[in-house]
Amino acid sequence: MTLRPILACIFLGLATTAVHAADAAAGKAKSATCAACHGADGNSATPDFPRLAGQHADYLQRALLDYQLGNRKNPIMQGQVANLSRQDIADLAAWFSSQSGLATAR
Ligand code: HEC
Repeated sequence: MTLRPILACIFLGLATTAVHAADAAAGKAKSATCAACHGADGNSATPDFPRLAGQHADYLQRALLDYQLGNRKNPIMQGQVANLSRQDIADLAAWFSSQSGLATAR
């Protein structure tokens, strides 16, 4: 089969760049600094800081990556993400996404 070498390359590529499955519990452990602004469960206490609770994980992950890459510019958040690994980002996104967003109006 001509497909085999191609598939082998794809799997090899995945293996070398693999980020382990996102781990919400690990994300919780890494979220202490985030809690100061976004709330411990991602329901921030003031409109100055966006609520993260219940947001789609892929949206959160993209936002964090964009701050890190400079595609999305915000001096506060760019400082927050500077030292995060891809795994940290995936875990943090999983944690805040797994929380329930408050439906209360402010
Ligand atoms: C000092 C306060 C502060 C801390 C600490 C902080 N953030 Fe933020 N965060 C903000 C502000 C302000 C914004 C809105 C920035 C903007 O307008 O892009 C934001 C935006 C975000 C967004 C984008 C939300 C959206 O709806 O698009 C995500 C995701 C996020 N923060 C995650 C985190 C994570 C994860 C941490 C911890 C590693 C963290 N933040 C730490 C203040 C903070």
